[in-house]
Amino acid sequence: MTIHIYQAQLLHYLTEENLANRMQRATSDAADLTNTERPDLTVVDKNVTLLPVIAGVKVYPEYIADAALVVDDATGCVVDYGSKKAIMAEYASSSAQEGKAPVKIHDYQDKLIMPGFIDTHVHYPQIDMIAAFGEQLLDWLNNYTFVTEANFGDPKVAHDTSKFFLNQLLANGTTSALVFSTSHPESVEAFFTESERLNTRMITGNVLMDHNAPEHLCVPTEQGIRDTQNIIDKWHERGRQHVAITPRFAITSTPKQLQMTGELYRSYDSVYLQTHLAENLDEVAFVRELYPNHKGYLDVYHDLGLLGRRTTLAHGIYLETAEYEVLRDTGTQIAHCPTSNLFLGSGLFDLSKTLSYTGVSIATDVGAGTSLSMLTTLSEAYKVQQLQSNPLSAHQGLYQITLGNAQSLLLDDKIGNFMPNKEADFVVIDMGGTDLMERRMTQTKSLAEQLFVLMMLGDDRVIEETIIAGVSRYKKATAV
Ligand code: GUN
Ligand code: ZN
Repeated sequence: MTIHIYQAQLLHYLTEENLANRMQRATSDAADLTNTERPDLTVVDKNVTLLPVIAGVKVYPEYIADAALVVDDATGCVVDYGSKKAIMAEYASSSAQEGKAPVKIHDYQDKLIMPGFIDTHVHYPQIDMIAAFGEQLLDWLNNYTFVTEANFGDPKVAHDTSKFFLNQLLANGTTSALVFSTSHPESVEAFFTESERLNTRMITGNVLMDHNAPEHLCVPTEQGIRDTQNIIDKWHERGRQHVAITPRFAITSTPKQLQMTGELYRSYDSVYLQTHLAENLDEVAFVRELYPNHKGYLDVYHDLGLLGRRTTLAHGIYLETAEYEVLRDTGTQIAHCPTSNLFLGSGLFDLSKTLSYTGVSIATDVGAGTSLSMLTTLSEAYKVQQLQSNPLSAHQGLYQITLGNAQSLLLDDKIGNFMPNKEADFVVIDMGGTDLMERRMTQTKSLAEQLFVLMMLGDDRVIEETIIAGVSRYKKATAV
């Protein structure tokens, strides 16, 4: 066993409960938490107001300018973090004593360490048809998406693409994701196999479709459910893998299949459910045609038992007040996918209204989304909210793609910030990762300004290294 100490600037977000735990550990840098003399050095900024994913929970940014993060490579978990001075005094010197674990120091100088980013809605097979021209949702699905997804019955295609996709996630600083595979069980098997090899915490499942899609992608009603059951038996909570029951949306599953989906979902208390909701006006109209006796799109899912705290619905742009109330009453979460909504011309998501009812996460939705970078995604989220006079602060955005998305997925006991015993998934960020950013950073006067530049201009080029459960899994190649 070796203790690793990562020295850098450190930024993450704490809930009040996290803060109380942290204050209890009376290490010498705890005093810094109330430091008012040098607020730029170590700050839990209680003046920053963040809209939390979970109603009533207070969330604060914690930034430590000269920090160290301590990771135990035997468990892959965080041991401690704090000012470099205090951490080095406590861990590095004690290791010199006999019988203590050896210490390895990683010096990242002026880089920024943040918790790994979490993407709550992304389609891995669609990485092969990202950026397909000219259509809105239903034609885009028929003309591009289904054509590509048809290839994933081939285990080789599924394996190669899983490997490429997961590598791309790491290159973008994303360490966990809620992922759509395809309707082929092979696509799920390949994805989990590769994720298990990397030890990334991932959630996926076979896509359920039994009508209104090309025949070769539809799986008979009961067979699709049986495939999901087999996948749950094999993969759910094996290491860091989780299963999500994944009906594509109300259009491509028969009422019978949605009903069986709901029954399966309710027979577990830890399996997830993911699908799409009210993304596009033609889609909403089609669902109304298919389900004339329901009150609306969400009512179909509600009636058939698909809603709950472990359900994430992508989009939710076109909702009535009564539907927001159902989301609130069932704890159902919404994943907002700004680059996708803009690319497909779907519409403008009302973030503040949705957050006033239920938890919202932020997601890429590649291949309708145009980037796997959660920073680029935040940049587009900012613009979508600007059009609705609701500017998104960098703190709100960066909280969302880390602890906020972890909370939405009920994974915040494991990932999302640097509280001791959480899994050490993190990214090393170069705030001057491009020439433009380096130049722009020299003109900034505050941390908030720097983080906003990171959110607006950052992408995969700022990700220096990505660490999964204490193991480095991606390092940016440096040009010579
Ligand atoms: N609705 C149903 N399937 C999909 C999909 O693959 N992408 C998006 N953006 N919306 C969908
Ligand atoms: Zn999607």
